Amino acid sequence: MNREAVIISIFSFILEIFLHDEQKLKHIMNKNLIPAENVTDEIFKPFFIRPAEPKEKIVDVDRGTYHPRNTLNHLTGKEWIHFSRSWFNHRPKPRNKNLKEDLHPAKFPEDLITRFIKFFTKEGAWVLDPFCGTASTLVSAEQCNRNAIGFEISEKWAKIGANRTKSSYIILGDSRKIKNINLPLIDFSITSPPYWDMLKHSRGGSDSTQKDRIAKGYDEYFSEKDEDLGNIEDYNNFLDELIEIYKGILGKMRVGGYIVVMLQNIQKQKRQFYPLAWEFALKMRDIGWNLRQEMIWCQSDKKLGIWGYPRVYVSNVHHHYCLVFQA
Ligand SMILES: C[S@@+](CC[C@H](N)C(=O)[O-])C[C@H]1O[C@@H](n2cnc3c(N)ncnc32)[C@H](O)[C@@H]1O
Repeated sequence: MNREAVIISIFSFILEIFLHDEQKLKHIMNKNLIPAENVTDEIFKPFFIRPAEPKEKIVDVDRGTYHPRNTLNHLTGKEWIHFSRSWFNHRPKPRNKNLKEDLHPAKFPEDLITRFIKFFTKEGAWVLDPFCGTASTLVSAEQCNRNAIGFEISEKWAKIGANRTKSSYIILGDSRKIKNINLPLIDFSITSPPYWDMLKHSRGGSDSTQKDRIAKGYDEYFSEKDEDLGNIEDYNNFLDELIEIYKGILGKMRVGGYIVVMLQNIQKQKRQFYPLAWEFALKMRDIGWNLRQEMIWCQSDKKLGIWGYPRVYVSNVHHHYCLVFQA
């Protein structure tokens, strides 16, 4: 072998090792990201196990009393009452730019999800988010020792989610497939689905959040994919597709398990009002979900816009409905 050939073969050997490691690294980083078509029955192994229940009441000076007959969660009576108020204010923590948390156009805060997971489940439970975006639900579930599965249509958001989680499963694909996939029995589900195609419609003045995002070069909406529910233009089609997904989820739930769906009613241009949250709630009842209650997430920290001034009533919609259903 001449000198040149030796150099070339050494170089390609090093390149091969490098590429191999790169692939290995990618595999390790995305070990919990599974394309929907690769999901098999054996894939879902619980990472967290339900702890043994105490036999006696546990009295804690600060937390209050935990009763062994509590079948829903690990909260004391005092903590339970605190959660039961039908509204709450939440000021989200700033997003972690290093983990690309600020890139997603509609990410919700983990600590908000944590309060629901801690109320509606015990440790070791299975939590499902059918529209998991950058995996906030899964991050929160892991922090609370719950097992979690998320579905996400966009590879971009799913990859960010996979890098933020360790023990959860992110299924890359359409959540319409949930009904055909063998999942473990789901104890609780929480999500914020796309609020119809709202991200594609500018909501106002020069200081709107959407305009801030455009100025930074961030994505305005989730994806260009046809399967993305945020790209359905027709309101009734959107509602029907969302309801179909929840028909699928009902078949995967433990009987008596709860779900929370976050939605808003929508005011579009020309003052058309679409009561999305209310219509969704009623349609869910029609397909067999027990409609329990709503909880209202108030956003008192959002900037106010002067939309209808000085003639027309247009409100600043700074609350979300957290709709609670039971299987
Ligand atoms: C409101 S966002 C959820 C954000 C998430 N809670 C977070 O904190 O990052 C809705 C997500 O649903 C995804 N999505 C839309 N249609 C979908 C579908 N058919 N199947 C799975 N995911 C879908 C979008 O890509 C988007 O990331």
